[in-house]
Amino acid sequence: MEQFDLKGRKALVTGGARGIGASIAETLARAGAQVMIGDVMADVGQETAARLSTSTGAKVGFVPLDVTQDDAWASATAATIKQLGGLDTLVNNAGIEITSLVVDVNGDDLRRMLDVNVVGTLLGMKHAFRAMRPGGPAGQGGAVVNIASVAATIAFPAIAGYSATKSAVDRAPCWRP
Ligand SMILES: NC(=O)c1ccc[n+]([C@@H]2O[C@H](COP(=O)([O-])OP(=O)(O)OC[C@H]3O[C@@H](n4cnc5c(N)ncnc54)[C@H](O)[C@@H]3O)[C@@H](O)[C@H]2O)c1
Repeated sequence: MEQFDLKGRKALVTGGARGIGASIAETLARAGAQVMIGDVMADVGQETAARLSTSTGAKVGFVPLDVTQDDAWASATAATIKQLGGLDTLVNNAGIEITSLVVDVNGDDLRRMLDVNVVGTLLGMKHAFRAMRPGGPAGQGGAVVNIASVAATIAFPAIAGYSATKSAVDRAPCWRP
């Protein structure tokens, strides 16, 4: 017996091609949800979607998505709503970690982590809220889950920049609609 019954739910999982995102997609599918995986890695994402579709029996699809791009979010949410018949769950999982001691930190690496981890998460909230709110193209309300990290609150060696971005995600409930 599944711990959660998510039959009828329609979810988009970012960064779902592999790793934690793929496991989240699988868990949602096993609980009865229909799932779209959004990722920059199209080949791996399509393979994962096909594998999960077979292993869970649920509808699991793939949509190309670079979470740092506003236009890509608009296309991905529209494609999800079209293919699943709605959208009521977004898991903002896509994230990157570039390690460096503070004395060696590189500005471009910091900006890239901010872009994917913080900008990507907030753009996801924007497009999910627009889609799920009353009158929106999905319009049934729903839930947004943002994946932060224990590194948001605990200091570890060589990931100060990553920790800063995950602290921002950890504070996302303060980002009022
Ligand atoms: N692995 C850990 O120990 C750990 C611990 C705490 C939190 N997290 C967080 O969990 C999430 C997943 O981590 P993981 O270990 O599975 O990482 P991973 O590198 O294995 O997978 C990340 C996925 O995100 C995708 N991605 C990267 N940039 C993207 C972008 N711009 N747009 C769309 N997709 C993009 C990648 O293609 C990949 O499929 C991240 O947010 C990470 O910070 C991981």
